Amino acid sequence: MEKKLPREMTGAELKSMLKSSINFKSLGGLKCEELTLPAQDKQWWRDAKIGMFIHWGLYSILGRGEWARFNEQIPKEEYEALADEFIPQDFHMKEWMEIAKDFGAKYAVMVTRHHDGFALWNSEGSYEHFTSYHRGAHRDFVGEYAQACREAGLKVGVYYSPMDWRFPGYFDPEGLPENAALMKKQCYAQVEELCSRYHPDILWYDGGWLAHKGSDTSSAWFWEPVKLNKIARGYNPKLLINPRSGWEGDFYCDEGSHEIRGGIIPVPWEKNMCVCSGCSWGWMADDPVSDFDWLIRMMVNVVCRGGNWLVNIGPDRNGKISGEIRQRMRQVGDWLRTYGESIYATAAGPYEPVDDVYGATWREDKVYLHILDRKAFAGLKLPLSENVIEHAALFDGSPLEVVQEEDGIRLVLPEGSSRAGEMGSGQEMEGPAPDTIVVLTMTEAVKAAGDAEITFTGKG
Ligand code: GLC
Repeated sequence: MEKKLPREMTGAELKSMLKSSINFKSLGGLKCEELTLPAQDKQWWRDAKIGMFIHWGLYSILGRGEWARFNEQIPKEEYEALADEFIPQDFHMKEWMEIAKDFGAKYAVMVTRHHDGFALWNSEGSYEHFTSYHRGAHRDFVGEYAQACREAGLKVGVYYSPMDWRFPGYFDPEGLPENAALMKKQCYAQVEELCSRYHPDILWYDGGWLAHKGSDTSSAWFWEPVKLNKIARGYNPKLLINPRSGWEGDFYCDEGSHEIRGGIIPVPWEKNMCVCSGCSWGWMADDPVSDFDWLIRMMVNVVCRGGNWLVNIGPDRNGKISGEIRQRMRQVGDWLRTYGESIYATAAGPYEPVDDVYGATWREDKVYLHILDRKAFAGLKLPLSENVIEHAALFDGSPLEVVQEEDGIRLVLPEGSSRAGEMGSGQEMEGPAPDTIVVLTMTEAVKAAGDAEITFTGKG
């Protein structure tokens, strides 16, 4: 069962080896032994599995996506005037934390400053004091967020964009080096402010590339991400950092709403996507909310391949989340409150997933089979392995027959499938359950391949 994997492989090799639809961002970042965290320091995050992402800023006033300023080439003065209008009425961060808890999240990641440069805290390092503290609201939203998060028992993640469209030097770092240096200075100052004041558990970069060309990793010459992240770690030696600063980071990122297929990915990774259509991460009126069953299957597909699931909401200018989104988040959370034992603090395996049919998670001597297509599953056999099944049952405890055959193990599921009656949130669900969970009790603790010591280069 031990997988012998090369220590370094290209992103293309990963995809073909695992026949995976996963597309990791920012591969091939700089390496630095001093920044490498031991596996045990990442364990809380691997166990957490579920996070809530929040995109909120001046773009939430416009409702045309967080890229509106750039896409529409809105003049600087016009866009920046929005800062005086960004005054959420009757808003308290607790509202978001309630949603995160309802959703079953164990951590949150909030955009503290997107590419438009507007910082949501009292940032002295902000170029031209373009912040929610110096303008309109006069509030330190990051401080409020970090406090509310901790009070809710969630780990605190901050998203930060090193690049900033306000600087012409961003678009021409070699032609306008002094201006680009100002942007870099702002980045160093702001990362230090965030880490020293709010002590985040996760630092989530996005947008280290330059002039919208190349990648975060090809722009590392400019940002010097090792130096930057050493400063960040100075305030929390166990800070988890994503790979998008140009340094390779503590985990890999797959972004967007595409389906997850292929084998278990034997490294820490996270899928981030929107609970709505994904056309925009920031608020958009009437953005359709994703289907409940589809979301559950997505979560199962991610976790059965070893990933975490970070799901984004885009509050409106007043920080409000629509009733429909809240309800969907709560429904997923209700599912997790019932079946979370098969998700949280598990590892992927020991059986490799079969696309659209099933995947597995395990903890100690229990294996949870997540069956997405009962009919197709009935025609399959679990591969024989050193893990021996002592007992099999549906999640509700009803025992299942286990048929040991020469070439595998067949599990006999009862006819028909019941919709989990415990969906709650006032919603009666119809049709087949999106995920039928079978609990296998093994004769001893599960043996699975676990993580592999591999890194992916950006090549290929
Ligand atoms: C993409 C988008 C950006 C968004 C991010 C979230 O990089 O361009 O706007 O914040 O995804 O992961």
